[in-house]
Amino acid sequence: MSDPASELSELTSVEASIALRIATASEPDELSALANEVNGRGSVFVAARRQIGSLPPDERRQVGRAVHDAMKRLESLLIQRREELEASGEELRRRVERLDLTEVVPVRRRGHLHLVSQAQMELEDVFLGMGFVVAEGPEIETDWYNFEALNMPRDHPARGMFDTFYLRAGEPGSLMLRTHTSPVQVRLMESESPPISAVMPGVVHRRDTADARHTPTFHQIEGLVVDQGVTFADLAGTIEAFTGAYFGPSSRSRLRPSYFPFTEPSAEFEITCTICGGSGCRTCSGTGWIELGGCGLVDPAVFEAVGIDPEVWTGFAFGFGIDRCVQMRHGIADIRVLMENDLRFLEQF
Ligand code: DAH
Repeated sequence: MSDPASELSELTSVEASIALRIATASEPDELSALANEVNGRGSVFVAARRQIGSLPPDERRQVGRAVHDAMKRLESLLIQRREELEASGEELRRRVERLDLTEVVPVRRRGHLHLVSQAQMELEDVFLGMGFVVAEGPEIETDWYNFEALNMPRDHPARGMFDTFYLRAGEPGSLMLRTHTSPVQVRLMESESPPISAVMPGVVHRRDTADARHTPTFHQIEGLVVDQGVTFADLAGTIEAFTGAYFGPSSRSRLRPSYFPFTEPSAEFEITCTICGGSGCRTCSGTGWIELGGCGLVDPAVFEAVGIDPEVWTGFAFGFGIDRCVQMRHGIADIRVLMENDLRFLEQF
């Protein structure tokens, strides 16, 4: 190593030059390059440190300390500048996305119902036109309504279809966020006597991981008809009628055999994929059909649970996702936008 005094003064001037460039850096990438000059390969400080061992013992400590301190000072400047840049990036983003909620625009009406609320009301209108009434039930449910009365006693394997959020209240497992709108059927049958034709919209919750087609909180509409002599054909006709009214006359529906504890027989209903019109695409996994919900004839066990005589009364029920309907009708690739409240999305509807 050359004379330690001139070595130290060179390090001081390198430090000053790097410090100046840190202070004026405007991009995180610049800081990464500067960090490399401080402690990466090619750093004069690292090189100096490596040569310390060859100095006379009395100089080692002095030079070692000087190099170490210079590096520490520069590292803390780097951290500080990175924080400043992040803060101003955040600030800029906030300024660009800022909403002035105090702004009064006298002419144009601002704000409108969320797309899902619009769809819910439109679907309610369709059902009202078909002679249904609209009913609602609570979002926090008891085990009886969400499961037991729907022919799912404790330990029934079908409970596994519904990954449930339980509340820390009352007996463990006795209170939950409802996992479907089917419990409202039970409430209705307990409080009204047949004939009944009602739809029951509402929010439901499941411990599901969000992805392009699922969110843990979503919306369903339940349907229930109880009368004498109700058949599967009545159910199929109802589904064909409402899907046609909501998705347009070119849409078709079909039923596929399935299983639900509260209906027998049970089916899933599907509509022709609105993205490809039924020819098969990625969204419908090439099948041309998209599943909307479940349905079936009310299981006699459910009638018995609510005190309706299954020898006299028959019925059908169905349940489907409103968010899924919206996704299909508007060709929305990722259903999570419905929960994010981003005005750039919401304003389009
Ligand atoms: N509750 C079911 C679910 O969320 C959907 C359903 C299936 C509702 C069949 C019904 C029915 O009324 O009859 O998966």
